[in-house]
Amino acid sequence: MLVFGIIWKKDARLFAKLKKILYLCHVKPFYHMKNNIRFLVLYPLSILYFLLLVGCCQHKPNAIYRIGVSQCLDDAWRQKMNYEMERELLLHPDMTLSRRIAYGSNELQCEQIDSFIRERVDLLIVSPNEAEQVQPAVTRAYRAGIPVIVADRRVPGDEWTAFIGGDNYKVGRLMAQWVTEKLGTSKAKPFVVLEVAGLPGSTPATLRHKGMMDGIEEAAPQAKIAIESVMGRWYQENAYEAVSAYLEDHPLPDVIVAHNDLMAIGAAEAVKKNEGTMYNGRRKEVPIMGVDGIHPGLQAIVDGKIECSATYSSRGDMLIDAASRILHKEPYVRDTVLETALVDLTAAYPMLKQDEAITRDLETLHIVQTQAECKWKQQRFDRFVLILFMVFFFILFLITLSYIFIKQCKIQTKIRHDIIPQLENMQKAIQLSKKDEAFAERLRQVVDDYLTDPHLNVEFLGSKLQLSRTQLFRRVKAVAGKGPLDYIRERRLVRADELLRTTDMTIQQVTLELCFSSPSYFTKCYKEYFGHLPSAR
Ligand code: FRU
Repeated sequence: MLVFGIIWKKDARLFAKLKKILYLCHVKPFYHMKNNIRFLVLYPLSILYFLLLVGCCQHKPNAIYRIGVSQCLDDAWRQKMNYEMERELLLHPDMTLSRRIAYGSNELQCEQIDSFIRERVDLLIVSPNEAEQVQPAVTRAYRAGIPVIVADRRVPGDEWTAFIGGDNYKVGRLMAQWVTEKLGTSKAKPFVVLEVAGLPGSTPATLRHKGMMDGIEEAAPQAKIAIESVMGRWYQENAYEAVSAYLEDHPLPDVIVAHNDLMAIGAAEAVKKNEGTMYNGRRKEVPIMGVDGIHPGLQAIVDGKIECSATYSSRGDMLIDAASRILHKEPYVRDTVLETALVDLTAAYPMLKQDEAITRDLETLHIVQTQAECKWKQQRFDRFVLILFMVFFFILFLITLSYIFIKQCKIQTKIRHDIIPQLENMQKAIQLSKKDEAFAERLRQVVDDYLTDPHLNVEFLGSKLQLSRTQLFRRVKAVAGKGPLDYIRERRLVRADELLRTTDMTIQQVTLELCFSSPSYFTKCYKEYFGHLPSAR
């Protein structure tokens, strides 16, 4: 661009000079390149290149918000939530997700949140493993100015931006409703309810337990319902182990309520192991309830492994929508509590089919998304190649222009240093020769006028031409190639020859007429000049 600038600035003057110079230097291709052609072709071309380059580089969206997602676990329910987030993200091309999973470790989750803080993500979505333990990291993020959306499991205090999660107390109440429906509210018979609890430090486990206890208490205050708890910590395997251990020294409970479907399935497997056990001569069925109401649980209901479940929405889409609203400073709901409902066999089958259809849709969507991403990557690559080519040609173009410019400069320098001085010298020489011509003419005039005058000598000539002896000698030498005396003699010889040829004058008379000292001297001078004797003519 610098080169263009210089050419542009020097423009008219430079080109006028250049035309002359190029002509003089026989640089024909450049000489024929006219000023307006350069305007019409070179500058617009360079600007076009520049605009294209800028255009090619401007396809990025204006702003990209980076959202950190901190997931406590990676089970089916969480995967559904992740899917929902990714699907919703398709509607928000200005946001990207970066997900980290803590696999049930409070420490790991805190570290991951801290790493998001260090990376200065624009927003954080956290589903905390255990409330108390993860709260400090959540608070750190919030205090660092990062908006925090707490999902599903709550943290104590109110240092978070928004919460979206299920109504866990209500879930507990549904569990109580199912238990009391199953067992009845009579006080005649004692019942045992085995509760397979989630991780104790997580709010859903606490609230579900409380809801259930309150619900049973309210519905059957006099019933002899004993609630016994084992810890499943949200995992199917843990639930299986815990229920198996329980069954080793306890009779089968009347019902089992697990805080999620996975643990309900684990409990069902543990009970199944005891299938052979007979109670009072007959095999005992243990109805089991879980929570979540998504694929593994629904399938277990349809397969008769568990009896029912309660819906517990993950709503990853709502999380992304809220994130977008917060980032774009739009109104949002600070605390969103999602509805729950009981799912029995009648509801489970259509729900399962619906869930399968949704999963298929999601998979299709995922394929379409992957294809779109591939296309986008291909386009990005194509654009990169195009930019590369354009940069290459632009550089080539610059080099060419620089070459022309350097050539121009060189030619100009050559003109300035060599040709102009040469021309000046030539001009001087021409002017000088004109001066000399005039002097030679005058010299001849004066000499010819006084050829017959015996006083014609160097002094006489000097006085007639108003030149000193030295000046006269130098100038006569310059124009005639000989000294003044020789010149006078030469002019006299020429006149003598003319007289001898055109008149009847004798050598004697001519010698006297033209002031030679003697006929023999005249004859000698004549022979020297003409190469033959005067009488030989
Ligand atoms: C998934 C899960 C769900 C449960 C929820 C409670 O990780 O265990 O099954 O409903 O978390 O936070």
